[in-house]
Amino acid sequence: MTIYVFDAYGTLFDVHSAAAKFASEIGPQWERMSQIWRTKHLEYTWIHAATGRHTAFRLLAERSLDTAAAMVGGVPDGIKPKLMDAYLTLSAYSEVPEVLAALKARGDQLAILTNGDTDMIDAAVKSAGLSGVFDAVLTASAVGVFKPAAKVYQLATDRFGCAPGDITFLSSNRWDVAGGHVFGFKTMWVNRVGAPDEYPDMPADRVVSDLRALLTA
Ligand code: LAC
Repeated sequence: MTIYVFDAYGTLFDVHSAAAKFASEIGPQWERMSQIWRTKHLEYTWIHAATGRHTAFRLLAERSLDTAAAMVGGVPDGIKPKLMDAYLTLSAYSEVPEVLAALKARGDQLAILTNGDTDMIDAAVKSAGLSGVFDAVLTASAVGVFKPAAKVYQLATDRFGCAPGDITFLSSNRWDVAGGHVFGFKTMWVNRVGAPDEYPDMPADRVVSDLRALLTA
């Protein structure tokens, strides 16, 4: 039995699927806008964590969307609320449902550990058809700080009553893998886009291109 703990956004759920849905309304800038949205959203979480001012992930999603839209010269009227709604019903990456079902069937324990708000993550899990798959859904809101603060990773060891090294933590976010490594997790970097490696002093134990690698482990 292995305990697998998954980051949510970018790892299980495709954050760019929201803007992709409205690509024709936004225009050719949609991809750049979506990248800036994600990057600014993460930056805001880190600044709030480092300054000890925790707030809702959703609020920071709205603020970073405003910034991203302004940085690409604006988006059509009325599109921002639609993008926020789409964020609540993001698509899971195509291999996610079958891989998680197979892991569950072989008796592994599965959890989400995310900076997302509990209601946002519940909505995403439901809309992706993943209800009932996870043994635990752990969110940063429980400890009032965002990853990569150690307190957030500790939610997983507390939940499973185990040592950090008993958990395999998977994230597509290289900074999150770095945080998990420092906490003591075994880490897998889900490098879906072939990004260059970063944080050489906080390495991933294993690098995979998507979750199917778990079935051959
Ligand atoms: C998560 C984001 C930050 O924690 O990817 O789900």
